[in-house]
Amino acid sequence: MIIYREKDYDAMSRRAAQVIAAEVVHKANCILGLATGSTPEGAYKCLVDWYKQGLLSFKDVRSVNLDEYKGLAPDHDQSYRYFMQSNLFDHVDICPENTRVPDGLAADSDAECAQYDAYIRSLGYVDLQLLGIGRNGHIGFNEPGDCFIKETHVVDLAESTIDANARFFATRDDVPKQALSMGIGAIMGAKKVLLCASGEEKADAVYRSVCRPITPNCPGSILQLHPNVVLVADEAALSKLIAAGVAL
Ligand code: F6R
Repeated sequence: MIIYREKDYDAMSRRAAQVIAAEVVHKANCILGLATGSTPEGAYKCLVDWYKQGLLSFKDVRSVNLDEYKGLAPDHDQSYRYFMQSNLFDHVDICPENTRVPDGLAADSDAECAQYDAYIRSLGYVDLQLLGIGRNGHIGFNEPGDCFIKETHVVDLAESTIDANARFFATRDDVPKQALSMGIGAIMGAKKVLLCASGEEKADAVYRSVCRPITPNCPGSILQLHPNVVLVADEAALSKLIAAGVAL
């Protein structure tokens, strides 16, 4: 695992954007696995800036997102499709038909999940998978549990995830209780994984993912088995690794 220790959120965002941009420059028709949430917002801003400066093109890029809330329409302002449109897709030259986010309104969610996996397989898996991490160690919406789930699946969101995401909704009751999430199989099938984290509230999840035994109780810990992981994090998120002498 390569660890980039960055000063703060802005530096983390810039470094993460550099890793993504390098992939796009190196392989113009790469497959990007994308994430939503507060963590990647700054990186997406950098990518949009660099696109506007003519330094990058997403013309031949295809993307698959990690997850979507079950029951939210694509035009709901808290859906992950809406997030991707407003933070990245609407501002760069990616072809709309080359972007995929699980359909939160699919009448048959299990069929949608199976189709999502079939699509990822048909692409030959993802070249670069961007990940944030939950305070409880979730990646995508693979929540802590008794086992790792390989396939894209419908997830009951953990109470702690609902608490964490309530900041985006008018009330906690408005937070969807379920999501469709890429499974551990597609994440681990990525040729390269870019794990990003910022803030002290992520320090424990980062530490458990990098230094502690691999367990489905901390889904991020499975990344220890991936041969090509880049961790980009700020000092607050790395604080436990720094204290353990791992990220100096
Ligand atoms: C988002 C996703 C989640 C988030 C995680 C951290 O697509 O899959 O795993 O990466 O919940 O969220 P933030 O970045 O908002 O702290």
